[in-house]
Amino acid sequence: MRKFLKFVGFAILALCSPALLADEDFQGATHLMPFEDAVLQYNSAPVNNPISQLQKRIDSGRAALHFSRRDGYLDDLLSQLHILKSSQVLVFSKTSFQKELISPSTPRALFFNDDVYIGYIPGAPIMEISSADPNLGGVFYILDQNKVEKPEFERRDQCLECHATSRTMGVPGFTVRSFVTDKSGEVDSTSGLSVVDHRTPIEDRWGGYYVTGYHGNQAHRGNLIGQAAFDKQATKPNFKGDVTDLSSFFDVDRYPGTNSDIVALMVLEHQTHMHNFITRLRDETALKMAAYGHIHYVTNIAESFLKYMLFSGEAPIKSEIRGNSSFMKEFQAQGPFDNKGRSLRQFDLKRRMFKYPCSYLIYSKTFDGLPDPIREYVWNRLLEIFTGKNGPADFPEIPMETKRAMFEIIRDTKKKEWGKDG
Ligand code: HEC
Repeated sequence: MRKFLKFVGFAILALCSPALLADEDFQGATHLMPFEDAVLQYNSAPVNNPISQLQKRIDSGRAALHFSRRDGYLDDLLSQLHILKSSQVLVFSKTSFQKELISPSTPRALFFNDDVYIGYIPGAPIMEISSADPNLGGVFYILDQNKVEKPEFERRDQCLECHATSRTMGVPGFTVRSFVTDKSGEVDSTSGLSVVDHRTPIEDRWGGYYVTGYHGNQAHRGNLIGQAAFDKQATKPNFKGDVTDLSSFFDVDRYPGTNSDIVALMVLEHQTHMHNFITRLRDETALKMAAYGHIHYVTNIAESFLKYMLFSGEAPIKSEIRGNSSFMKEFQAQGPFDNKGRSLRQFDLKRRMFKYPCSYLIYSKTFDGLPDPIREYVWNRLLEIFTGKNGPADFPEIPMETKRAMFEIIRDTKKKEWGKDG
């Protein structure tokens, strides 16, 4: 009970001051950015992301999207965009554009890869889709689930009501939250964590989500439906923990996968905030460059960006975590690998998320799309940190041999000019 009260108290605190968690990043990190103004041009800048590219191919007849009676365009969309089916996670809290269709017996499935997120509810009239665009940050679309010759991803900026707020670092972006819900999935408005990312303690995560996989005796708030379940979990911490079969909760056959993999959830949480941070750093740089012609006022933000990117302050894992789908294996298989077979996607999951704690989004187009001066700043700092140039106090929590390994992995897979001996 005490633990539960602590959670509720913490949750209320988080609700009263939505800035609390995300302001961990830097002062003002939750302020809304003027992304529609003349410098950032969210409404008029050219889009260039996997969804807009697919649309172009459909329009010109170079691609078609296959419609199936079972799940509309979902299956073909996942395969054309190379999104793992095993990335499926299931959220049953009524926290969406289509909230009246979501419930514990009809959860919303989310699928994602490094730059696209898809929200799918069986039988729903539309799919919700978002993409990380190097020019814009998060761009939001709906896709009508009716069979037509040329399906159209329709851009919807009203999604920004929830997807460009203090919870997304003030930029158009992505969000993961954790709520206490009632039996229908309606959120208890006095509870709720503003931002869930890799720093959120495991015990506070996944309220409103199904969670499958293994996590030992670490409690979390997934699979708890209604107050009675939360009360029970307070005295019996692993109540509804280590779940590997969701069929007692809802009809799993209506979904492409049967799981809501705990590791996919953790990757999603790291990635959503990382994407928001890339957009925020990009926007801050663009604004300061326009005003002053230099980046001196942005370097403090770049330093906190580096902290997030290198997993400073990530929530400790107290007991080994394992997924129960093919997600771990398929995610790791994407590499890229260095010549010793190592990769930034390799999991640890015994004490921390990744064996080499540097975000794999370093390979993404959004990261490459950071304005030159700030990208160079980040690259220079990574080189300093990984080679120990400023001594062990520069990211002291990362052992020197891990820094060295990350230097070698990145040199072999991305940054050839870092040379052979650093
Ligand atoms: C009422 C608030 C709200 C609105 C409006 C909303 N969303 Fe969301 N959306 C959420 C929340 C909250 C999440 C995180 C998952 C959850 O807890 O349900 C989310 C998650 C998503 C995700 C998964 C990626 C992520 O950010 O976690 C996609 C894709 C998505 N929304 C698309 C859309 C699209 C497209 C629209 C507009 C058509 C939209 N959303 C409108 C609240 C909203």
